[in-house]
Amino acid sequence: GRVCLAYSGGLDTSCILRWLIEEGYEVVAFLANVGQDEPWDEVEKKAIKLGAKKMIIEDLQKEFVDELCFRAVQCNAQYEGRYLLGTSLARPVIARAQMRAAEREKCDFVSHGCTGKGNDQVRFELAFYTIRPDIRVIAPWRDPKFFERFAGREALLDYAAQQGIPVTSTKAKPWSMDANLAHCSYEAGILEDPAITPPEHVWTMTDDPLKAPNEHEDVTISFEKGIPTKIVYPGGEESESVTLFKKLNEIGKKHGVGRIDIVENRFIGLKSRGCYDSPAMTILRWAHLDLEGLVLDAQVRSIRDQFVTHKWSELLYNGMYFSPEREFVENSLLFAQKRVNGEVRLRLYKGNVFVLGRSSETEKLYSAEEASMDSLDNFSPVDTTGFIGIQSIRLKKYGLQKQEEGEN
Ligand code: ARG
Ligand code: SIN
Repeated sequence: GRVCLAYSGGLDTSCILRWLIEEGYEVVAFLANVGQDEPWDEVEKKAIKLGAKKMIIEDLQKEFVDELCFRAVQCNAQYEGRYLLGTSLARPVIARAQMRAAEREKCDFVSHGCTGKGNDQVRFELAFYTIRPDIRVIAPWRDPKFFERFAGREALLDYAAQQGIPVTSTKAKPWSMDANLAHCSYEAGILEDPAITPPEHVWTMTDDPLKAPNEHEDVTISFEKGIPTKIVYPGGEESESVTLFKKLNEIGKKHGVGRIDIVENRFIGLKSRGCYDSPAMTILRWAHLDLEGLVLDAQVRSIRDQFVTHKWSELLYNGMYFSPEREFVENSLLFAQKRVNGEVRLRLYKGNVFVLGRSSETEKLYSAEEASMDSLDNFSPVDTTGFIGIQSIRLKKYGLQKQEEGEN
């Protein structure tokens, strides 16, 4: 059979490539460009040298930003109150492109190097099965034929030596990384002890906030229907989505914006420690949250926060992007965002994002006169006495009951 393998050029997927050939498969290697730094040509040469029939590299940056990153911003997406979902957001785009490649290359099988303990295996495979229900997945790290033979790093290194797989030393970085435009993640290795602080040189997408410039930088971000459409920064302006996103990553990096260090709950039930830096996503999220304060209806916001934001984030984390419930939830999100137009001015300074002001030409909900403490136009204070009176009926009864019970 022919198998389309998600290939990174690293030790694991290089061994998997050789092993698949040993098992009798023809291998087409696939690598997605979601904005990470990669020696693209070298990876391609390596795949071919190791026996791949072909190496496919696809630039997915535009669909990644437009479809997933900006949707996440629109949703204020966040998992367990902290994680901005960088890896989770990239997986649907990568899986979809890998299935397109498999289709073109007439592969009945796909394969990947995800471990058997993580979220990524679930995300990739659920996506594969929805996009192409008859696809056959080879997951070596869950196949006893593979993992019993290659238990431990030594076995992989021995196999690499025997198969002529060049190994670039990974001693300098004893942890696992996953980089894309939205973030870089750092997990495992020396980071497994949640009490240990990650050494400063772990971080790649943010500079040390303690060493950030003493001069702040201000950025104005414009939104249409909750989607970022333009940024204005000290050196210029930008409205093309990928360029805009990269620019925010660059400015955010300099000011140390967007680092988190958490212990999270993986879908499969394990807790894991993860460190992430996501400058652009952090900046955009703050701006969007703030604009919603000005333009979004109170009850729509409340329901969206409780249900849509929470659910969409969880669905993405759990690998349910290609699912009816994600489409359902997203439709209500789009409805809620119909009037989220305007701009927000932000200040970046030593790891922080401060909001300086916001405005919208289309909003009709906020009225400075109405809210003013200096004017009583169109407002009857007597009505509020009634409002409080009615609201208190139920609470007075509760208070009485507690009094009788001797609590209070
Ligand atoms: N824990 C994060 C997540 O589940 C990051 C995963 C990083 N993946 C990786 N293959 N290194 O989204
Ligand atoms: C992996 O296990 O392959 C990476 C971590 C994860 O998917 O959660």
